[in-house]
Amino acid sequence: MQQTLPTGIERVLITPDDIAAAIRRIAAEVARDYAGGSLVLVGVLKGAVFVTADLARAIADVPDGPVDVQLDFIAVSSYGNAHRSSGEVRLVQDTTHAIEGRHVLIVEDIVDNGHTLHYLRAMLGNRQPASLRAAVLLDKPYRRAVDVPVEYVGLTCPDEFVVGYGLDYQERYRTLPYIAKLRPEVLPA
Ligand code: PRP
Repeated sequence: MQQTLPTGIERVLITPDDIAAAIRRIAAEVARDYAGGSLVLVGVLKGAVFVTADLARAIADVPDGPVDVQLDFIAVSSYGNAHRSSGEVRLVQDTTHAIEGRHVLIVEDIVDNGHTLHYLRAMLGNRQPASLRAAVLLDKPYRRAVDVPVEYVGLTCPDEFVVGYGLDYQERYRTLPYIAKLRPEVLPA
């Protein structure tokens, strides 16, 4: 059946089933690594809101996983133009709970040039968590400007401007259930 796509969307690159399978794979790895312990997921707003919620529930679905998973969120923004970040990251909203002594997993929708995750790892790492790791649904390793570890990766993202499942273009398209390629003519030259 032909799917009608919203204006501005060229094609679907990653389906809802592919997203769900990637999240289940990450959840299985996380549940194994933190089995019997407690874990704080720190979702990075706004893009990671859906992956954080879905990952938290997928971890809870794994038998013998962490006994205790808590949710927190942080918001950052990067300076730059509409679709290219400059590398300067600014804290917009901090976590609501202290993370000292806690096992912390940063949850991101996408890692592109790596500046956002690099900033967050440095900032949260300074707060003496028991451990600090990162889980990301989509990775663009070929775009990296700064070297930053990512312990759990869902999928390698095609080299396109992607939207959907939390990812936006000018705050649109976040609620699409799939990851899609934006029509190039929508983006500024
Ligand atoms: C996106 C994404 C990551 C960051 C990755 O957020 O959610 O946080 O960019 O890019 P980087 O690896 O090049 O630093 P964005 O700044 O678009 O904000 P949003 O999550 O509110 O959409």
